[in-house]
This record gives sequence, C-alpha cells and structure tokens, in this order.
Amino acid sequence: MIFRPRRLRRTAAIRDMAAETRLSPSMLVYPVFIREGKNIIEDIPAMPGQKRYSPDTFPKFLEETANAGIKSILLFGLPEHKDECGSGAWDENGVIQQALRVGKKNFPEMTFMCDVCLCEYTSHGHCGLLKGETVDNDPTVELLAKTALSQAQAGADVVAPSDMMDGRVGAIREALDAAGMDETIIFSYAVKYASAFYGPFREAAGSTPAFGDRRSYQMDPRNVREALREAELDIEEGADMIMVKPGLPYLDVLSKVKDAFDVPTGAYCVSGEYSMIKAAAANGWLDEERVVAESAVCLARAGADIIVTYFAPELAKMMKEGRL
Ligand code: PBG
Repeated sequence: MIFRPRRLRRTAAIRDMAAETRLSPSMLVYPVFIREGKNIIEDIPAMPGQKRYSPDTFPKFLEETANAGIKSILLFGLPEHKDECGSGAWDENGVIQQALRVGKKNFPEMTFMCDVCLCEYTSHGHCGLLKGETVDNDPTVELLAKTALSQAQAGADVVAPSDMMDGRVGAIREALDAAGMDETIIFSYAVKYASAFYGPFREAAGSTPAFGDRRSYQMDPRNVREALREAELDIEEGADMIMVKPGLPYLDVLSKVKDAFDVPTGAYCVSGEYSMIKAAAANGWLDEERVVAESAVCLARAGADIIVTYFAPELAKMMKEGRL
C-alpha cells in the first residue's frame, strides 16, 4: 500500500490548525506624526487615512489606538522651527517631548517608541550635521544621543535610532546609562536602505533633503551581507531589538537577519508600501483587506517578530474579529 499524505487545506479549521505563521496584536507598532500647534488633526494627502496630531489632540489618537487593541506606537515629530543642527529634536519642550509627557500620563499602559533622527528637525532635511555637503558622523552621533536621552526623560519606553550614522547605538546606550535611564530599550533601525519607498513619509514629516539624497548614510539596496554586518555592529553596541526597513521588498534580508541573530527582529512596512496599497484599492484594483492581511503574514513568515505598519488599526481589527 502506498502512503499518500492528505493536504491539510480542506476546511478553514484545518488550515488554521496547520498554519505555520500566526499573528497577534502584540506584534504591531503604529507610527504617528506629531506636529506643533494646538487643536490640530490634519490629513496627510500622500497617505490617505493617516493624520498629524498636535500634542493636545494626541490623547484622542491614543484613546482610539488603545481601543483598537494596539499596544505600541512609534512617534515622529514635526517642529515649527528648524535649524542647521536640528536642535528641536532634543529640546525639553520640543513637540515630541510634550506629546510624550501628556501621552505617558494619560495612557501609562501604552508602549511609547520614539524615532531618533534629525531629518525632521534640520533646515536642510539631512539626518545630521553637515560638513560641506556631507553629514558629519561623529558630531551627529552626539546630538542623536542627546535626543534619545531627552526622549527617554520625557517618557519614551523605547528609542529607535533611524539615522544610520556609525556608532550611534553605543553612544545612545552610554548616554542613557550615564543618566540613570538604563531601563530604556533601544530598537535600532539596524538595516535601513536608501529607499524610494519612503516618498510619502517625507511629505508627511516634511523631511525631504534640500539637496542630494541619503545614499551616503543609508544602505545600498544591492547589498545583503552588509545588512548582517550592520545588525551585528548594532547588537554589539547594545541594540536590544533590531529592524529591517522597508518591509516587503526586503524579505530576503529580513529572513537572513532573523536567522543570524537572537534579538527580536522588526520589519517596517513603510509609507510607500502603505500608499501603493491605498491607491490601488481606491481604484478598485486590489482588495485592500486581503492585501493588507497577506502583507503582514508574509512579513511574519519571513521572520518579523514585530511589524511597524500604518495598517496597524486594520490588522488589529481583523485579529479581533478572528479574520487574521
Ligand atoms: C527618518 C525616518 C524616515 C522613515 C523613518 N524614519 C525617512 C527617511 O529616512 O527618509 C521612513 C518611514 C516611512 O517611509 O514610512 N530618518
């Protein structure tokens, strides 16, 4: 007699039982944009459905997000005034610091993650101090450490450096520890590519470089061995969790990074991935819900323990209703 295995697909219950990838709301991180001002909730045209909040309307966002079952958010700040060195990033009364204080007080259960970068705060839109037309690594690292510390002191549970300067994770860890903030977690954008998929974000955050691009500090999309080196260095310097960014176009990188290291690994499904799906769905060309669910499953299957995504509310809803 010949043994013939059955396919484990005939009913939904069997498919669910045999599923190799399972998602849960605890994996989700929802990015949010905070801008200076009062009483502001404004649409971001390039990212339909996403909004910017002022610190006073931020609690409304937090309430909706917590009610949706999302437990972690990632904050980006848009200051009113920008300067050459991005001083708004570490200002004790900066837009992010204000939002963190009010948020942490009213929603102590929420995990507050903060993007650490200078591009939203510099007049030239680059991620650090300039020397001529290039970013000056070492002085920038000092400013990033100051920024992370000020975010931690304002209430951030997790700081997430996204600048891609060399040595920033170690400098941030040192600054945090020296100030007694040794419990603050570092979630490093260890593997961040110079990607055109960040296009809509730059409109959302007003952070398009005034000249040139970010290829001298962000990674070359042709490289994957370099991703392993970047991740290794960040972990050696004290990164507690690491991220690969963008998401879907870089699943091979995510999978290799996940296999190589034993720290929690995140994938950032970036603004361009969001807006592409939104635009196609608005035209009736894609079934938005199914594409969003499939994208999240693919990120998790490739190795993501954490998924940073603008679709977090939709995903949480599907999970709550047992559809994902
Ligand atoms: C800041 C930063 C960027 C993103 C996250 N942090 C923009 C960039 O590097 O140009 C992109 C996020 C997205 O596209 O959703 N450096």
